[in-house]
Amino acid sequence: MKKVTTSTLMQLKQKGEKIAALTAYDASFAKMFDEQLIDVMLIGDSLGMVLRGDDDTLSVSIDDIAYHTTCVRKGTSRAFVIADMPFMSYATTELAYTNAAKLMASGASMVKVEGGEWLISTISGLVERGIPVCGHLGLTPQSVHVFGGFKVQGREQEQAQKIIDAAIKLEKAGVQLLVLECVPSAIAKRISETLTIPVIGIGAGVDTDGQILVMHDMFGISANYMPKFSKNYLADCNDMRSAVSTYIDDVKTKRFPGPEHSFE
Ligand code: KIV
Ligand code: NA
Repeated sequence: MKKVTTSTLMQLKQKGEKIAALTAYDASFAKMFDEQLIDVMLIGDSLGMVLRGDDDTLSVSIDDIAYHTTCVRKGTSRAFVIADMPFMSYATTELAYTNAAKLMASGASMVKVEGGEWLISTISGLVERGIPVCGHLGLTPQSVHVFGGFKVQGREQEQAQKIIDAAIKLEKAGVQLLVLECVPSAIAKRISETLTIPVIGIGAGVDTDGQILVMHDMFGISANYMPKFSKNYLADCNDMRSAVSTYIDDVKTKRFPGPEHSFE
């Protein structure tokens, strides 16, 4: 089976085919998602919440992500594997190099970092050294205490413009993928149309180039609460494989997300 690469993802955007992504943390689920032809799997620092039961992602370490990346890599033969850089693991460029190298050695094909302008030189440095980078803008959960809670970002004009400008700068710096989390659909649409690279949304409406969900939310089994932007795909079928293939199909055909999963 042909492996999904950064070029495949770019081609999907150019063809107008939506990218379907899920988080994954272990080999068994990774193998099942891979068999259902998921395009992208992310070892998210959301594992702090869904595996460990914390209220946020801040306690996750680089070794946690490295361990789960090793697990996911073993179960994956086709999908593109991205690993999250956890809180403070890229606080300086030097730290970012050391920690990103750990995740690549554990089996990631790309690392994801949260933030805009302040990350520009770190991102270009990583890319120059051979480490592909995914950006993450909007609601960046590692900054939850700065935001004062998990809140939709970019509702005011000025804040929206800041997100749009940051997206353009990240692309210039060399990110090959961008996650947009909890932003109004119109902003996400505009960014997806403006950028050449694929934009993957979560709580960002149906007009991004792809969608991602936390796997536990997609199965409706998260320890804490179920975000508005998510959908329980096990509710209408009793089988995990069908839930996953329905989710992928819904993303590809733009049946997910609906307006009820999005912010205006
Ligand atoms: O940690 C995570 O699961 C994520 C996705 C929600 C994009 O960053
Ligand atoms: Na994350």
